[in-house]
Amino acid sequence: MEIIGFIASPRKEGNTAWIINRILEGAKEQGAKVQAVYSSDLDIRPCKGCLGCVQSDKCGINDDMQWIYNALKQADALVLGSPVYMGQMSGQAKIFTDRLFAHIVPRFSPRFKEAYAGKKLVLVFTQGNPNPDIFKEYFDYTKKMFQMLEFDVKDMQVIAGMRNEPAYERRDLDMTLRRIGASLVSELFME
Ligand SMILES: Cc1cc2nc3c(=O)[nH]c(=O)nc-3n(C[C@H](O)[C@H](O)[C@H](O)COP(=O)(O)O)c2cc1C
Repeated sequence: MEIIGFIASPRKEGNTAWIINRILEGAKEQGAKVQAVYSSDLDIRPCKGCLGCVQSDKCGINDDMQWIYNALKQADALVLGSPVYMGQMSGQAKIFTDRLFAHIVPRFSPRFKEAYAGKKLVLVFTQGNPNPDIFKEYFDYTKKMFQMLEFDVKDMQVIAGMRNEPAYERRDLDMTLRRIGASLVSELFME
């Protein structure tokens, strides 16, 4: 069982990275093979809209998404973590999401790629504001958008209040996050 954590923050030692790594550790403790992927280490360019991927599964941009496509194909689940920037996912997360178009298009599209449907997803947002509901509409919308892209969204977490206390100082978080990773593995085992 393989789980990829994509950390869409420019801060390699920031809140998102700490949080995603705790979730991955929880999954690893239950026997999953895990890999943390840091957007800040990678060359992931924006989709060019060339539609070269429409006829095949191949995106024509020769960058780090090429190995990520392969890794995602192998993986049983993706944990996508993004800081909230201006009330939305980070630009890094958005570019990554746009690039999934090469493999994943909605069912109502004439180009629906069934082979990729149903990938398990856990969405994680971190934000400075202490109110986890302040961007609720956006988070709900984003979850729906991933469901429309045929992801099987297993969980969505909003970790708020990072402006008051960074994630690594939040004593309550460690166990909660490990449990999320462990539950993901249990769900994957049950299928
Ligand atoms: C450019 C920028 C925009 C941000 N916008 C918001 C925002 O709209 N709402 C919020 O609650 N926090 C906002 N924040 C705070 C981050 O979401 C928060 O500190 C997050 O935990 C950072 O994650 P990281 O440490 O992984 O980079 C913003 C931070 C930056 C740098």
